Amino acid sequence: MNIKLNEHFLDVKETYLFSDIAKRVKKFQEENPGREIIRMGIGDVTLPLPASVASAMEDAAKQMAVKESFRGYPPEYGYDFLRNAIADHYKAIGAACVTPDTVYVSDGAKSDLGNFPDILGDNPVIVPDPVYPVYVDSNLMNGRKISFAGGTKENGFLPEPPSGTDIEPSVIYICSPNNPTGAVYSREGLKAWVDFAIKTGSLIIFDAAYEAFISEDKPHTIYEIPGAESCAVEISSFSKFAGFTGVRCGWTVVPDAIEANGIKLSKFWARRQATKFNGVSYVTQAGAAASLSGKGLEDCMANIAYYKRNAKVLAEVFSEKGIYFTGGVNSPYIWLECPDNMGGWDFFDSILNRFGIVGTPGEGFGTNGTGFFRLTAFGSYENTLKACEYFKSL
Ligand code: MLT
Repeated sequence: MNIKLNEHFLDVKETYLFSDIAKRVKKFQEENPGREIIRMGIGDVTLPLPASVASAMEDAAKQMAVKESFRGYPPEYGYDFLRNAIADHYKAIGAACVTPDTVYVSDGAKSDLGNFPDILGDNPVIVPDPVYPVYVDSNLMNGRKISFAGGTKENGFLPEPPSGTDIEPSVIYICSPNNPTGAVYSREGLKAWVDFAIKTGSLIIFDAAYEAFISEDKPHTIYEIPGAESCAVEISSFSKFAGFTGVRCGWTVVPDAIEANGIKLSKFWARRQATKFNGVSYVTQAGAAASLSGKGLEDCMANIAYYKRNAKVLAEVFSEKGIYFTGGVNSPYIWLECPDNMGGWDFFDSILNRFGIVGTPGEGFGTNGTGFFRLTAFGSYENTLKACEYFKSL
């Protein structure tokens, strides 16, 4: 065949990080049949959907089986009941600037993060390092030039805006609470980025997928920061909050005030979604709406509390052992420095072989992840305690 391919795909790693890890674990299981595996690698939830949320989905499914209440294609930007519920959620966390018409419901944050570059031109892109690989890969696939804002031990893995003049208008990715480091920006820290974006005419893409894990006084949304509604879109998800990794639902907020060269960003995003996306199922949206209020919200927060207890016991072990880490408080992730100057992949092999524990090597998240390792708190409490005992023996 002689068609041209998008050869920018040659610029991304051959396999996606978590697929690579899954393959290695499968091989380990084949070679060690019967060995127990404690999964702390991919950030996938393990608690079932709250009964209150599942029951809203069940009711919605029953409505779909009745002629009078059957629904076909969903509205492309989400049902009003869910867009309203998401806007109410923002009101509750102090961001009244998010109105229902600025909310675009989708099948998850990963899709929106991957798709957003569709509507952006050839701008320089600034991403943190370490970083959730989707920000990097989806820009490389479009041939974008990426520079990195380094997270390090010195800045607590909370990179600051680049200094200097002559900075071109850029697309900036920020995730707080951060994946993979679990570090969370303070209001001042986020304000520095918002001020930088306004000064340089840049756009922030803010990933708030882990917002529900915040229990300290930290910003839950970029829209807590004055001026953010003119320079930031926010992408979020029901995956970790409501246990929807297998159900699939998320959203993107594109404020009306964001314009580039006289064109509203919301116009392009709305157009992109209308053409390339056919909406999220009614059953899913009914469950998502149920998770945002009353018993549904209470039950989802109880699940979050369960995972936060896992994170806490892990954090206690690393604190006791004097191992440097970030996260574990406002986040389901613990980002630790590998003991004995080990590289992340060596540590991966070591704890898999010794204890059957699967984590994620920091190297998978970027150069600054070298010698670091990510553990998730999404497993069972019992397995987390087992892992803690193993880590104590390190
Ligand atoms: C992760 O482990 O980093 C996440 O589960 C990936 C994702 O949310 O897509």
